[in-house]
Amino acid sequence: MKVGIVGTGMVGSAAAYALVLRGAAGEIALVDHNPALARAQAEDIAHAVPFVHPCQVHAGSYDALAGAGVVIIAAGVPQKPGESRLSLLGRNAEVFSDVISRVMQVAPDAVLLIASNPVDIMTEVALRASGLPPERVIGSGTVLDTARFRMLLGDHLGIAAESVHAYVLGEHGDSEVLAWSSARAGSESISDFADQIGAPLTEAVRARIDDAVRHAAYKIIEGKGATWYGIGAGLARLVQAIRDDQRAVLTVSMVVQDFQGVSDVALSLPRVVGATGIVETLIPHLTFSEMKALKASAETLKATALELA
Ligand code: LAC
Repeated sequence: MKVGIVGTGMVGSAAAYALVLRGAAGEIALVDHNPALARAQAEDIAHAVPFVHPCQVHAGSYDALAGAGVVIIAAGVPQKPGESRLSLLGRNAEVFSDVISRVMQVAPDAVLLIASNPVDIMTEVALRASGLPPERVIGSGTVLDTARFRMLLGDHLGIAAESVHAYVLGEHGDSEVLAWSSARAGSESISDFADQIGAPLTEAVRARIDDAVRHAAYKIIEGKGATWYGIGAGLARLVQAIRDDQRAVLTVSMVVQDFQGVSDVALSLPRVVGATGIVETLIPHLTFSEMKALKASAETLKATALELA
């Protein structure tokens, strides 16, 4: 499958590199408002191909996106140290509408995969600008937060992250919700398993893990200016689910008409991802307080999106 990537800064180029390492694309077309950067990224990433999987990596104008099955949108400015994702909205929204319109002219059949922050609202902007059905405009959402949650739980419990089934829902940002009550280790509840192995999920452990997930990006940005490897790998994971019609359950963002009384909002829920984009949405079983926090997250996103309108 051919994958297009618009925006070849750190996130877009990391996604391209992850696609090559994963063997998830037969062709990758890189587009950037700085053509020299796109060309350099394409050439550098192409030099990894002989070590891993066949893949044609090239750069060009928007025309190079023609025939892409998935187009990743990673254009826009990243967070500055201490800056929230939602605060990027004004700067990135302007860039976005033009980018999406140009993509649709050359790749009208692609699934759009939105990575630019604030990703939930950019997903909504992309949906409006593209005219596509919501199921074909997927925001990376909390796919990375869920991975962080699972990794930290796995570390605490001494098991592989792949054996932890736990979700982060809502905004990919400060108001996100860690769904502790539905988290499982294998087929057991995470708290039962933790008690069983003598590593109880005390309030202190839960607070530590929550803080580490919720503030992971801020901490990394303080040290290196931006994040890119985690989100790059997450985007490659999503592309593979689409390419192979895996119908994998992943927490991604999509615009829904109504969530708990909040209309037309994009937020992350566990969703089945396949060849046509989002195939199904699962409504997780949450405690009253978790659902209350998730509704508050939706309201935060809606309020911020309305500022843009
Ligand atoms: C992060 C960026 C992708 O969470 O928002 O690392």
